[in-house]
This record gives sequence, structure tokens and C-alpha cells, in this order.
Amino acid sequence: MSRRTLAVVSAGLSQPSSTRLLADQLAGATRDELVRRGAEVELRFVDLREHAHDVVNNLLTGFPPAALREALDTVTGADGLIAVTPIFNASYNGLFKSFFDVLEAESLVDRPVLIGATGGTARHSLSLEHAVRPMFTHLRAVVVPTAVFAAPEDWSGGAADGALRSRIRRAAGELAGEVERRLPSTGPADPFALTTDFLQMLGRDDAPVTPPGRTGERPAPGSARAGSPPG
Ligand SMILES: Cc1cc2nc3c(=O)[nH]c(=O)nc-3n(C[C@H](O)[C@H](O)[C@H](O)COP(=O)(O)O)c2cc1C
Repeated sequence: MSRRTLAVVSAGLSQPSSTRLLADQLAGATRDELVRRGAEVELRFVDLREHAHDVVNNLLTGFPPAALREALDTVTGADGLIAVTPIFNASYNGLFKSFFDVLEAESLVDRPVLIGATGGTARHSLSLEHAVRPMFTHLRAVVVPTAVFAAPEDWSGGAADGALRSRIRRAAGELAGEVERRLPSTGPADPFALTTDFLQMLGRDDAPVTPPGRTGERPAPGSARAGSPPG
């Protein structure tokens, strides 16, 4: 039986948050699907409102405070990511975008991702397709085909109604399939690991070529971005 971790990021600002509610349901459905396929699953929740000040500090200083570092490691070390944002002005909210802005470049390459959003109107459901999906595509994550949008009318007394429930189930099945196809994660990359062979650092011609790691080369600890952007 393989052990899998799912990072569940919610950028909801309200308390209680409909975004967190959707994130919970997507996480539960994906966990159930992976368990049905024989995996042992751990869910790790990251509520971005708890890290809002740290995210801004990281943007200004280049260094994540300890709690944010832990949240970033939760995301980069997981086998799969569920990322849910409220729609603000027909796009992800600023906190959601800023969190993924401080994540190390290339750390989501080939990572299975399920995207979801909540909004005040179903008319903005395609924000997932024109804003959220392109951001993760830019990061070279593998975004599953079904994105789940929940408008106020999709909830009946705090539970997903029939149509929303079936979208959640379909998306969860797609994420579980992508997670299952990959080897279990070895956790977040070691920020102090040598990613370049020593001979390469010395510029020697006989240096072996080092393949990039699963989560890509990581910049120095704390620096928000390093090297050229992906894409
Ligand atoms: C500043 C702001 C802008 C918003 N813009 C939109 C929008 O463009 N489209 C939409 O459907 N809902 C919009 N909403 C509504 C939120 O997306 C919706 O209330 C969301 O479900 C709140 O999530 P939460 O309960 O997790 O905080 C906006 C809300 C705020 C505060």
C-alpha cells in the first residue's frame, strides 16, 4: 500500500469560508478515491488567510517566516495539490496569486493539481479556465481536466447539491488517477542539497551532466525566485 499526501490550499477570507468548504469536499472525495485504489492518504490543509501577513513579508524581504516555510513545504512535498480560491474581480484573489508567487520556481513541475473556485455568481465560473488554469500551466503543473466552481446556489444547507457533487467526484477521480500514476513524493527538496555536480561548479569539461530533480532545482533558502522563470 503506498502512502500519499495531498496539500489542500484554500484562499478563502471569510469565516466560515465557502472556499474552505469546497476545498474540504474536494479533499475528502480525492482521499476516498485514492483509498479505494489501495493508497493510504494524509490530507494537509493550508488556509492562506493564516499566512497573509507572512506572504506579504516574503514578497518584500525574499524570506518566508517559519510558518509560511512550513506551508510552502507542505505544497512542494505533496503528491497532489488541491488549490481553491474565491473569485475576486473575475480572477483568483490576490492572496492566492501571491502565495504561488513566493513558491520556488519549478517546484510544481509535473505536480497533479485540481483547481476549484467559489464565487458570488455562476456567470464567473470560467474564471477558472481563463485565470487559474493558465497560472498552473505556466508553472508546468498537470492540471486535471475538470475544474470545480461552486456558486451560492450550488450549496443546499452547507452540502454540495447533486450537480456539484458529481463534478467534485469526477474531478477527484481525475486527480487520484494522476497521483496514482506517479511514484510517491520524497517530500520537499532539501534547500541545502547540491543540485550541481562539484566538477560542474569548477567548470570542468569532464563533469557528468546532472538531471534535474523531481521538484526541480531550488534556489537558496528564503529567496522568492531564482534563475529564469519557467515557461
Ligand atoms: C473584492 C471582492 C470581489 C469579488 N468579485 C467577484 C467576482 O468577480 N465574481 C464572483 O462571482 N464573485 C465575486 N466575489 C464574491 C466572492 O467570490 C464570493 O463571495 C466567495 O465565495 C467568497 O469566498 P469565502 O466565503 O471563502 O470568503 C467578490 C468578493 C469580493 C470581496
